[in-house]
Amino acid sequence: MKMLPSRTEEDRCTWMRGVPVAWALRRLQKIAVAPLSVKEGITSKIQREMSTLQRVYVTRQIPPEGLRILKESGTFELWDSDDVPVSRAELLKKVKGVDGLLCVLTEKIDAELLDAAGPNLKVLSTMSVGFDHLSLDELKKRGIRVGYTPEVLTDAVAELTVALLLATSRRLIEATHEAKTGGWGTWRTLWLCGHELANSTVGILGLGRIGVAIAERLAPFKVKKFIYTDVAPRPELARAINAEYEENNGRKDCRLRGGVVNQEDLYEALSTGQIAGAGLDVTVPEPLPTNHPLFTLKNCVILPHIASASYTTRNAMSALAANNLLLGLRGEPMIKELKL
Ligand code: DGY
Repeated sequence: MKMLPSRTEEDRCTWMRGVPVAWALRRLQKIAVAPLSVKEGITSKIQREMSTLQRVYVTRQIPPEGLRILKESGTFELWDSDDVPVSRAELLKKVKGVDGLLCVLTEKIDAELLDAAGPNLKVLSTMSVGFDHLSLDELKKRGIRVGYTPEVLTDAVAELTVALLLATSRRLIEATHEAKTGGWGTWRTLWLCGHELANSTVGILGLGRIGVAIAERLAPFKVKKFIYTDVAPRPELARAINAEYEENNGRKDCRLRGGVVNQEDLYEALSTGQIAGAGLDVTVPEPLPTNHPLFTLKNCVILPHIASASYTTRNAMSALAANNLLLGLRGEPMIKELKL
């Protein structure tokens, strides 16, 4: 069995060719959720020290698994709401003097915030795989370690992407709207026709864990060909899904995230039929204002950033974020740490 170069045991398991990705993910999800095992005696000493000497602020009421792990490890301050994010002013006040900070992707962690936190801050743990909200240069400059939550959300995001692709190509949202609002007249031969995945070519911009997981799920739909583009060819991953590399004209960031898709150009392309349909889960800004032109298009399906929103995955993300934070505060390697 051939292995890809990677940093950790979990990485190695995920990338083993021939081993189902689902198996590796389940393993990581278990690791992420399991409380840290530290030997008796040492545990209570560390926990006592943590609760008396270390200050932690959590910017959101995170899912129960993560909260349980944090509670078992000591005391911390929490913005106790999921519906209303902590205001910037409150956050700037609350981070003053903290040693550890656990945040979600709505909090901008920039120079202003890090200055407000002060020199005690050693560890930042974000409950997200994305880090667009973090000023990595500022964190690096201050020697702050950063934990994040890759891999545990691969299944959920791949699943949602397939759902979005089907919803868009087979016009599902438009169809339910027609059925509900009286547009459903007689059966018509070409009404609400879309495009099949069977015999299609599927392109993946940025081939990573999630891209591979999507292709694996799409293959049974009889897709004819997978093509991908990235900053450089990724032959090992591409081989696993039989994908061909296409040059990307020098584009550095191939992830289709908010900020990468030019939404004005997309509107133009969708309204002129240059692109048949688009499904978005991430937009700029978020939330996308309800009067945004993209919302007027029948061939654009917009979801409110829910790709990782399954109970299993959000709990695994919160547990991983909690464990990353605790390990970082102890000065140990995190389960998933960003190399700055
Ligand atoms: C992340 O974690 O960055 C995702 O966008 C959440 O779905």
